[in-house]
Amino acid sequence: MSTATLEALAPAALSYKWTLADSYRCAKQLIEERIEGDFVECGVYAGAQCAAMAKAIIEEPEWDGRRIHLFDSFSGIPAAGPEDLEYLKAGHMAGLSACSLEQVKANMAAWGIPSKMLVYHPGMFEGTVPRSIRIGTVGPKIALLRLDGDLYRSTKVCIENLYPLLSQGGICIADDYALSGCRLAVDEFMQGNFSPIYWRKP
Ligand SMILES: C[S@@+](CC[C@H](N)C(=O)[O-])C[C@H]1O[C@@H](n2cnc3c(N)ncnc32)[C@H](O)[C@@H]1O
Repeated sequence: MSTATLEALAPAALSYKWTLADSYRCAKQLIEERIEGDFVECGVYAGAQCAAMAKAIIEEPEWDGRRIHLFDSFSGIPAAGPEDLEYLKAGHMAGLSACSLEQVKANMAAWGIPSKMLVYHPGMFEGTVPRSIRIGTVGPKIALLRLDGDLYRSTKVCIENLYPLLSQGGICIADDYALSGCRLAVDEFMQGNFSPIYWRKP
């Protein structure tokens, strides 16, 4: 991904700029290693991370059919629960970090991402994630799973349902591990999942 592209995406991302470069690098590596499956982000906001993943696909001489799944309410982060200590302390109300589906689609068009690569799953994760698996609109394999829903319950439903679809050699990114709710959801899940965790120092 060129520096110009990174600079174009960065203002639309809620994370650090280097996380965009990382989403791109992970996607690129998975394509090169031919790890089977689509790329998924749960919590897309304006879509910049998904666009970074898409850039890795677009750079290939031929589209390998890999798609990017965008899960989001498109109406912002819901109310925090008792596990989300930082959110409670800050007094955040429901609806924080909202970006509409129409705006995300407009962003993707402006960034040159072909719509055939994108699958939108609008609605609350608690409904859309299990339903999409059940009806087969996501899966059967995922190569890259990016969790960015901030809260305990948002992370929990996504990791419990989608991590089992991750291919061997696939990558899972928990963007909000520094937040107490996300960390608890990841730790609880990993306690029952006897696999090592690898991480790359940011
Ligand atoms: C921090 S933002 C995502 C930032 C984005 N990945 C980026 O790097 O720019 C969190 C997103 O998660 C979504 N979200 C959080 N919990 C959700 C839930 N339970 N169901 C659906 N969407 C949720 C919000 O609507 C918001 O767009």
